[in-house]
Amino acid sequence: MKVLIVGGGGREHALAWKLRRDDPTCEIVAAPGNPGIAALGRCANVKVSDIDGLVALAKVERVTFTVVGPEGPLEAGLVDRFRAEGLAVFGPTSAAARIETSKRYAKELMLAAGVPTASARTFTEPSAAKAEARRLGAPVVVKASGIAAGKGVIVAMTLDEAESAIDAMLVDNAFGAAGAEVLVEEFMEGEELSLFAITDGTHLLPFIAAQDHKRIGEGDTGPNTGGMGAYAPVSIAPPELVDEAVQRVFAPTLRAMRDEGCPFTGLLYAGLMLTRQGPKVVEFNCRFGDPETQALLPLLESNLLEPMRAVADGRSLAGAAPLAWKTGASVTTVVAAAGYPGTVKPGAAITLPADTASVSIFHAGTARDGSGALVTAGGRVVAVTALAPTIAAAQAASAAAASQVTFTGSQYRRDIGWRELTRAPVTGVTPPAPV
Ligand code: AMP
Ligand code: GLY
Repeated sequence: MKVLIVGGGGREHALAWKLRRDDPTCEIVAAPGNPGIAALGRCANVKVSDIDGLVALAKVERVTFTVVGPEGPLEAGLVDRFRAEGLAVFGPTSAAARIETSKRYAKELMLAAGVPTASARTFTEPSAAKAEARRLGAPVVVKASGIAAGKGVIVAMTLDEAESAIDAMLVDNAFGAAGAEVLVEEFMEGEELSLFAITDGTHLLPFIAAQDHKRIGEGDTGPNTGGMGAYAPVSIAPPELVDEAVQRVFAPTLRAMRDEGCPFTGLLYAGLMLTRQGPKVVEFNCRFGDPETQALLPLLESNLLEPMRAVADGRSLAGAAPLAWKTGASVTTVVAAAGYPGTVKPGAAITLPADTASVSIFHAGTARDGSGALVTAGGRVVAVTALAPTIAAAQAASAAAASQVTFTGSQYRRDIGWRELTRAPVTGVTPPAPV
């Protein structure tokens, strides 16, 4: 078995790690990969945007199947090309990837299929968009329709803020083509969850839910990032809630996509808001989440390779065993470079913890310099995942290991999982017996 992994971040390192656990004889080829993945397989110097190069690599390497990490190559039609070349690939076609890459497409599909989500309307005219924001009243949400690197969403607390966001997108082209069309959306209140499911287009294998931490600062303060940490399981998402999301969100979405002739295969990720009226969709992603994947895969007891290979081969997941999970908790802490989420300077020398037996260190923005030393090469540098019997112990172990990932200007949050800690019952303490 040989698997090509497209991408080079922490998510792809975690996927490589899990596939090798599931089958230690599985050969990994990654494009472009990173120094962490290089310890598990081979890295090929092919960019994720070079689809011709990736097709050629998959053929030369005679890979069993290919897994695509980021959304960019999915949007660009990697899966369509691979399938046309007869190559097995895990991921959605470009048309199906619109569930993430076009917020307008996703919203129209959800509203037509009766999937619970915030109501929204699409505009290209600033005055009409502003009228809609005034009609809804603040707080109100303004979104660029296309992919804007996670920065195209403004949760406006005032109408002034909403109007500035509309002007920035439609008049000043702050997000280029991605913001040539905006959605003005109803504000939802509640806790957010990330829920993944592997799907053949009809049947699905849901994961347990995880929670991401998007803000740079402890207590969820400061600017948004790609994700500073994640944890699982989430006690406000028991199996009944996952079932509800499968019935009310995943099943009708997959059915609607099949009905319009663009079935979704691969990993469908629902960003859910737990509102007072139940779970509602904030957004869909057409790929594994980062850093949720780094938190979830170490907790996954069952085999991931087989269902992924089945979907890549175009086989059905009907009758596949549900995914099984270890007991305990997983906490992933991201160690980021100085300046992140703004501009970062690459090339800082990295020291990793000496004892890595009790944690998993997933590389994201790392590289080898000319002398072979490990240096920073991006905003999010590594993700450290710890498993422990309780969320408190997992948080402590993850933060302790993150503190031993050292480079100039390193920053990380010590509070990943804090919401769960405010909820988690104290375990291991026996109340005093009555006298
Ligand atoms: P998105 O890129 O669509 O996931 O949005 C980024 C973040 O903006 C989400 O994770 C939410 O925290 C917030 N957000 C998006 N849409 C809404 C909404 N309708 N109501 C409240 N918050 C939202
Ligand atoms: N963790 C959020 C994402 O992967 O989009």
